[in-house]
Amino acid sequence: EKGTYPHYMLKEIDEQPAVMRKIIQAYQNDQGELTIDPDIIYAMNNSDRVYIIAAGTSYHAGLVGKQFIEKMARIPVEVHISSEFGYNMPLLSEKPLFVFISQSGETADSRAVLVNIKEKGYQALTITNVPGSTLSREADHTLLLHAGPEIAVASTKAYTAQLAVLAILAEVTAKSRNLDPGFDLIHELGLVANAMEVLCDSKEIIEHISREFLSVTRNAFFIGRGIDYYVGLEGALKLKEISYIQAEGFAGGELKHGTIALIEEGTPVIALATQESVNLSIRGNVKEVVARGANPCIISMKGLNMDEDSFVIPEVHELLTPLISVVPLQILAYYAALHRDCDVDKPRNLAKSVTVE
Ligand code: M6R
Repeated sequence: EKGTYPHYMLKEIDEQPAVMRKIIQAYQNDQGELTIDPDIIYAMNNSDRVYIIAAGTSYHAGLVGKQFIEKMARIPVEVHISSEFGYNMPLLSEKPLFVFISQSGETADSRAVLVNIKEKGYQALTITNVPGSTLSREADHTLLLHAGPEIAVASTKAYTAQLAVLAILAEVTAKSRNLDPGFDLIHELGLVANAMEVLCDSKEIIEHISREFLSVTRNAFFIGRGIDYYVGLEGALKLKEISYIQAEGFAGGELKHGTIALIEEGTPVIALATQESVNLSIRGNVKEVVARGANPCIISMKGLNMDEDSFVIPEVHELLTPLISVVPLQILAYYAALHRDCDVDKPRNLAKSVTVE
């Protein structure tokens, strides 16, 4: 039930800190260490390449998950859109492990891939919010998101839960390979939960930003570099699906190869700046679009922020920034839809889970 909330989406955004804490608890053993079914860790270690298969927001979580698994556990990862995989199947490695990411566990495009790879005898792990869902039943292994029911069509808490579970999978695999991830993930996820709380309490400021940048525009661009680019893709999807503003995410350095032609006087460009290594270059990209008339909205992380920034998110570990930088983007999209009188929880033409191919 949505209780006093006007929309499920807002409630589900607000639930994110509690979901983080629930996940930490669910994946902790009696000794206070993160733990995952040893069969899953065996499957990870026994594979020479992980193939992540997903759609929509879950695909965007997969793009970030690749970074976690490659950087922490040092296993190569490919991320594929499930609807493309069937006829565009890449050359598979000798010992692939397939990881399906799906909030509902019912997405038909993903299931078609699962059926196909099971026929070929490959192992599959499903990361889902719904125990007993089709993708969970038909895979060899399941990791649950523990996010509670997600009702709004726009996925919010499932995305951040997917990221947290992928980070835990990466960390437990890394430790089993005697690799030191260099940070204490339980502690860092606790900081993420606290940071999410701060962001959920900043709705008024974000509503104001949404009014300023998104209330009259026809389109909007999201830019970022590295991990911020993937979060930009998710921010754009959130905005377009519920507010019907044409929104696209781009890698900051790619703009000048074509997209910059679309920038007009007043075009909103939302830039993420959470990574020290690319802070100056993404700000360079912002200057390029501003020179063509864009209306820039920079969302940066504390410590990297500058005077011109519209919003500053609290500091968390640099690999985990997607878990919190997405929150203001979710809230921005929510208010953009609200200000445009859109049906926030049930946007036109969309279903919560897409059970046709
Ligand atoms: O249930 P799934 O995670 O498999 O769903 C995948 C997509 O249909 C879903 O993420 C969709 O893109 C959302 N409406 C995005 O908010």
